[in-house]
Amino acid sequence: MDYFEINGRKQLQGEVEISGAKNAVLPLMAAAMLNNKKLQIVNVPYLSDSTTMAKLLESMGAKVAFDSHNSITVDSSSLDSPFASYDLVKTMRASFYVLGPLIAKFGYAKVSLPGGCAWGPRPVDFHLEGLKALGVDIKIENGYVIASTKEMLGSKIHFPKISVGATGNVVMAAVLANGVTTLSNAAAEPEIQQLCNMLNSMGAKIEGIGSNTLIIEGVESLDSINKISVIPDRIEAGTFMIAAAAVGGKVKIKKIIPEHLDSVINYLKKAKIQLDIGSDYIYIESDGLSIASTDMETNEYPGFPTDLQAQWMMLMCLADGVSTIKENIYYDRFTHIMELNRLNCDIKLENLIAKIQGNQNLVGADVMSTDIRASAALIIAALCAKGKTKISRIYHIDRGYDKIEEKLSNLGAEIIRKK
Ligand code: UD1
Repeated sequence: MDYFEINGRKQLQGEVEISGAKNAVLPLMAAAMLNNKKLQIVNVPYLSDSTTMAKLLESMGAKVAFDSHNSITVDSSSLDSPFASYDLVKTMRASFYVLGPLIAKFGYAKVSLPGGCAWGPRPVDFHLEGLKALGVDIKIENGYVIASTKEMLGSKIHFPKISVGATGNVVMAAVLANGVTTLSNAAAEPEIQQLCNMLNSMGAKIEGIGSNTLIIEGVESLDSINKISVIPDRIEAGTFMIAAAAVGGKVKIKKIIPEHLDSVINYLKKAKIQLDIGSDYIYIESDGLSIASTDMETNEYPGFPTDLQAQWMMLMCLADGVSTIKENIYYDRFTHIMELNRLNCDIKLENLIAKIQGNQNLVGADVMSTDIRASAALIIAALCAKGKTKISRIYHIDRGYDKIEEKLSNLGAEIIRKK
């Protein structure tokens, strides 16, 4: 298995281009099956999750061609098997995104339940309740969701909690339902906005995009569009922003939509990090030393993203006092604490609030990735630590970060992938 060897305390200097968003490309690929046509998706991040979604679509009969490094064409005209196997779904929860489009396309689907993940149970009850409200019959048999319907009818659906995946799944079904569907407490994340915008350009009728209420007037069928370009990955961008702030240096983060990062920008400003915000870039200058301790809590968009919580925690490990983190999306998404503490960070978990005592004395050690974002936090910690750090199980990072070691090396970091 591959691992990273990192030699810390090298300041970061230069420019880095951000790839397309993992959490946007996956639902776009699933939505490509809705119209039996070809769809070219560009600015696709080169990640194992993109490949997993491609394999899943192929396993159902679609043709997926990787035209170049970051462009794929999905041809769903030959997709004829509405079955998503456990083998593929267990490696990537977002595979569950195929359920909504499959039921809209075939009136029937058999999709494996995803199971839990490193930071606890991650149920799919909102997805299933939403589909049931549209008139879909749902049975669970041998770990599979068996969904069937004769006709989907528009409905009023209120999600008990905002869910990115449930919103995407139900939207992809409701666009082809008969009548009007209203989704309240729906996700407003930029990735869901892009999905809805793409569906509208295919002829769907979705209003309220970017708000927490979506009104969807069902249409008979969707047209083809030639091409869609995936929005920049705000989580990758935020990871590089936090890395530059923590390690120190001067870094220009390019090809981004700064507005998608407003909450991260605001928290970095509170932590006294200097930022210059352009139309499609953010420039960060930091000495890595004068970081103000800042309490933070994660929230749904436009709040601070849970997918940057581990990286932010790492930054606070260097701050000038005590700071706290409250995780409001996944209450126990804290598996990175033990690993960060191995590098001499000082983090305690009390009543689901992380308390971080900052210090500037991080020292390299052997650590283990537990999930995609925890791995990113460990890389940043290793870049700040004195001496060598070995990070194992980096297959997690390959799921969500496009060429991370190349991008960091170009900024002057000493990071090597080893077998
Ligand atoms: C997506 C992102 C993930 C991010 C998360 C929260 C993708 C591929 N993944 O995951 O990176 O961390 O949003 O921003 O886009 N919930 C339920 N029942 C459900 C669905 C969700 O109780 O049926 C709960 C979850 O346990 C969690 C909260 O709702 O507490 C939000 O989860 P959700 O937005 O659904 O996360 P994902 O879509 O899986």
